[in-house]
Amino acid sequence: MIGRHAPRAARLFSAAVWLIFAIVGWAPPAAYADGVAHAAAHKAAIASAYPLASQAGQEVLAAGGNAFDAAVAVSAALAVVEPSSSGLGGGGFYLLQRQSDGYETMLDAREKAPGAASRDMYLDKAGKPVEDASISGSLASAIPGEPAAFEYLARKFGKLSLKRNLEPAIRLAREGFPLYARLQTAIRYKRGILLRWPDTAKIFLTADGGVPDLGTVIKQPDLANTLEIIADQGAKGFYEGRVASDLVAGVRAGGGIWTLRDLAAYRVIERKPLIGRYHGARIVSASPPSSGGVALLDALNILSGFDLHRFDSATRKHLVIEAMRRAYRDRAIYLGDPDFVKMPLAQLMSPDYAAGQRSSIRTDKAMPSDLLPGIESAPAGMHTTHFSILDAAGNRVAATISVNLFFGTGYMPPKTGVLLNNTMDDFSTKPGVPNEFGLVGAAANSIEPNKRSLSSMTPSFVETPKGLMIIGTPGGSYITSMVLLGTLDYLDGMSADQIVRSPRYHHQYLPDVVDYESDALTDGEIAELKAMGHRLRVSGRKWGNMQVITWDFATGKVDSASDPRGDGEGLVY
Ligand code: DON
Repeated sequence: MIGRHAPRAARLFSAAVWLIFAIVGWAPPAAYADGVAHAAAHKAAIASAYPLASQAGQEVLAAGGNAFDAAVAVSAALAVVEPSSSGLGGGGFYLLQRQSDGYETMLDAREKAPGAASRDMYLDKAGKPVEDASISGSLASAIPGEPAAFEYLARKFGKLSLKRNLEPAIRLAREGFPLYARLQTAIRYKRGILLRWPDTAKIFLTADGGVPDLGTVIKQPDLANTLEIIADQGAKGFYEGRVASDLVAGVRAGGGIWTLRDLAAYRVIERKPLIGRYHGARIVSASPPSSGGVALLDALNILSGFDLHRFDSATRKHLVIEAMRRAYRDRAIYLGDPDFVKMPLAQLMSPDYAAGQRSSIRTDKAMPSDLLPGIESAPAGMHTTHFSILDAAGNRVAATISVNLFFGTGYMPPKTGVLLNNTMDDFSTKPGVPNEFGLVGAAANSIEPNKRSLSSMTPSFVETPKGLMIIGTPGGSYITSMVLLGTLDYLDGMSADQIVRSPRYHHQYLPDVVDYESDALTDGEIAELKAMGHRLRVSGRKWGNMQVITWDFATGKVDSASDPRGDGEGLVY
């Protein structure tokens, strides 16, 4: 953008361009932090995991809101209609870019450990992990971050009031929505846990504890009340006062350790996103306490030294797998909450470091993970949720939010309507002991009071001189490798629809095995990868629920696609 100090002729030219754009209804070019300039979108798009949530965002955009208002509306609606994946009792990461000045930031709304948490809280006297202690019951819940993000997004970045942004979600909670197949499957899968908690069972199960029929209207009056209190009072309505007292009383009655102080002290933190380059593309991604951006950029740095198109498809996949192996290893060893641990981020993301990692990769042979010095590790399900938003002005949001496993702990403290997360399981409960996603960690991700657990969530923007992609997905430890594959697909010219459909493969250092969707590798590739020494494990199911928006700067075309593995909706307005 031409600023105040530009010569007069340039300013006049700029003013004329603005005028022309205003007349033809096309917004003016914006200059970004790194000098890349391009036109603003002429269409808005939302891709989320369920149509009612995308529509909530659309409603707020139509009411004059921007992408950030829509992010509040979509998150809150997802808390109601996809309660198995995210909600007020969870947290996540919101990657934002504001069009007017190119300001980029990551809202860290990650849950944090209660003040009374301690390193060995999930170990017995003999130092052995107590089974399920970090995933079930009130002790497994960290202090939620999502409600704080709602207020922060609306107040600092939005155009509408928090109250207006929460209206669609409050309506959905109060009036209900028809049960759909994927949520019914999640309820069936977790019925045992939901049955344990009367307030949860009342909402999601029939009176005799059965799984409700498709189309049954699910109403959540307590959740509607809690959302209304937040709409009226802001984050305080959740973190202080009646709701906070009910949350703490409920958690403590269940053996948990939350205090009113823990809730009152919760703050969203703005962190600088991680920025890297790959063959001319600018990648913006989540910074710690997510490991996503570090691992994504590290893997891309490793791959940037190869001309992947020169290789046959099996070798190309082999190289991507070897890059994943190395990036996930570093995750396990070095990463944690930046407010608690010093991390060698500059080193991990430097091209020189990647060159060192690359030099240990042979193009014809797998390297066993054991040969990479490190630590000790089972795979992921489809909980958590991601949405991508681009508004007509060019503001963008990539948000991945979660309660960790399906329905979190399943526990809903009475009168709150809030399902509590089990994100404490994302800590390393003991060095080398794998968590629910088979991820191992070290001291950097050990439990400490008020610390945020390390995440794999990887909301990202990928920008080239030609266009932009907004991407993310759920999938536990598979998230980062899915975003890596999506990035490579986008840079290979695939459309949003092709990217979300694309079959996936994954390596996370430990266990030392390549997991793959049944259609991700051909018989020939399987034979070649085995011959190189890879252990392969076909997955019986599909992974991820990727939500992608693409924007072609030259034509202004905006596309939005939701993963066919889920039943979300990508809308372009
Ligand atoms: O933050 C994380 O990495 C996990 N809590 C995400 C969990 C997830 O994606 C579950 N979905 N399969």
